[in-house]
Order: sequence, then C-alpha cells, then structure tokens
Amino acid sequence: MMDIYVTRNIRHEGLDLLKQAQTRFQVWPGAENAGPTKGEILQGVGQARVLLTLLTEAIDRDILTANPRLLGVANYAVGYNNIDVKAATALGIPVTNTPGVLTETTADLTWALLMAVARQVPQSHAYMVGGHFNIWGPNLFLGSDVGPGPCGKQKTLGIVGFGRIGQAVYRRALGFNMRILVFAQRGPEVVADFPGATFASLEQLLRQSDFVTLQCSLSEKTKYLIGQNELAMMKPTAYLINTSRGPVVDEAALVTALQKNRIAGAGLDVYEEEPRMAKGLAELSNVVLLPHIGSATTETRGEMAILAARNALALLRKERAPNTVNPEVYETAAYQKRLQD
Ligand code: DGY
Repeated sequence: MMDIYVTRNIRHEGLDLLKQAQTRFQVWPGAENAGPTKGEILQGVGQARVLLTLLTEAIDRDILTANPRLLGVANYAVGYNNIDVKAATALGIPVTNTPGVLTETTADLTWALLMAVARQVPQSHAYMVGGHFNIWGPNLFLGSDVGPGPCGKQKTLGIVGFGRIGQAVYRRALGFNMRILVFAQRGPEVVADFPGATFASLEQLLRQSDFVTLQCSLSEKTKYLIGQNELAMMKPTAYLINTSRGPVVDEAALVTALQKNRIAGAGLDVYEEEPRMAKGLAELSNVVLLPHIGSATTETRGEMAILAARNALALLRKERAPNTVNPEVYETAAYQKRLQD
C-alpha cells in the first residue's frame, strides 16, 4: 500500500514536501496535457491512504468507495465541485481544498480579462502579428473605457459573489474609480466593511453594471445563475467576465446573446463542460477566451502545491487537516472507523 496517490504532476514544491516527510507517494505518470482515466484513478485510490486530486478529476462515489482504508482527499484547487463531498462525508472521508493562496492571482486575471475584452487586446495582437497594421487609425479597435474616461462618466462594476476573490476584485476596482455593486447569497452584510461597495439584488446589478464579474463558487444555487433571462437584463453595452466555474453561466444562452449583440462581450476563463466550449463560442469576435488559468502563476501554483501536500500529510497522519471543507466528518463514526485501520 502506498501513502498518497497524486492524480497529476503538481509543482515540485508540494512533491518536495511529500519527499521530505518520507511518504511513499506516486504521481500519475501520464502526459502534462492529459489526465488519468477513471480506471486509473480507481487503481490509484485502491492502493493509497490519501488521494491528492486536481479539479480535472471527478471524484465520485465509485472512487470514494473503492478503498475502505482511504483517509481523505486533498484537492489541489479552492473549488471542489469535482468532488462528491456529500458522499465523502457520509463515508467518513475528509476533503480539503487550497483557499487563500490563489485569491490575488485570480483577481489579477479577472482584471486582465476585463481589460482585454473591453479594449480588444487579443484581437489587436492578432492584427499586429498578422501583418495588418498599415497606418494608425482613428477607428481602429475602438473599445470601452473602464475608468471614468474623458467625460468623467464613472463605470459600474457588478461583482457576483463576495468571498475572498470577489473582495480582491473590489479592491482593484477602487483604483479605477468605479461604482461597485455587489450581489451575494449571504445578503447585504457582506459589504459592511467595504467602503464604496453597495449591495444590490442580482437583477439591479445586472441592469446597472457596465461590467459584470462572476466570483461565486459553483453550487446547486449558483448553477445557471446567469441564463437567458439574466443576460437579457444586462445593458447591450455591458461585458460579462467569468473566472469562477463554467456552469454558473448557461453557455449556450451566452453564445446566443453574444451572437445577437445583446451584450457587448464576454471574457471567460472557465466553461460549462471543460475543456469543451459551447457551439459557436470560438467563432465570436466579441469574446476573450482563456484555458482556466486564473491561478496560473509559478508562485501561486507552488503555494497551492504546498497547501495540498500539507493537507494530504495531515490526513495521512490522521490529524484534522487545516483546510477541510467538510469538518463535520471528523465527528462521524465512519471517520473514526477509518482511523482504526
Ligand atoms: C481553483 O482553485 O478552484 C481554480 O479554479 C484553479 O486554481
């Protein structure tokens, strides 16, 4: 039996920790741009006490029940919608995530997307490298102001979801002198300590914002939070940015809204059925599309690896792991039974 099975090759900072702790671990040996099959994960989990997984792996009941000696699942991501946490809790399996370390990095990328789509940065780059730049043009790649612009018209940013990343997006918006609207399921108290942020209903936020950015986690409540009706509420000049999880948006409805210019554009880092995109999305000229790189800086991915490894090691030692998303599991008889083995 090995100690930890790691489903993809994470940054060495995390693997170094596992080595230093003298654990017997194995990393799925496949290519960097691929992931393990369910069969391979089942084989890995069958032989390990702890599973260190990535958001690309669906950790379902089959995998969770494959090894009665499994002590926990350490996810290398802050989002953990890839894991059936309900089943894990019922089975006495703690699940951990990597909160905090990727907050600022993801907020940076949210702004990079917002600026890129508002000012057509990728389209302009393609124009340059395609050799089309013959002369400066007064009408070349006209975009939208993010700051107040020459007429002093303050723009409105709507932030949907106001956890760590939403708050980091808010801090950056202050520098652009924006009016900031916030909607979060937790209600108006979320903005109490955030001067300049006003709580709004989702409808008010959608109707008034020039930029709508989605920073909520994916749950039953937020799946398709933005669908055809919500897109219809947005201004035709507004942009939608999504760096949270794809299924928060009805992607087919978004494609239709963009095709019909019902909104001005969208910047997406996440997709409903990653890595696939909805039909028609890639052909649009008013989108900027990224391959889920919100947390992709060397520093942050190193810190995520360290956090995931620390969580995995704590689980292996049968301790309460620092970032457990289902802490109630530690009180269950099912968990206690796993400890005896
Ligand atoms: C997460 O952590 O949930 C991001 O989507 C990837 O870093």
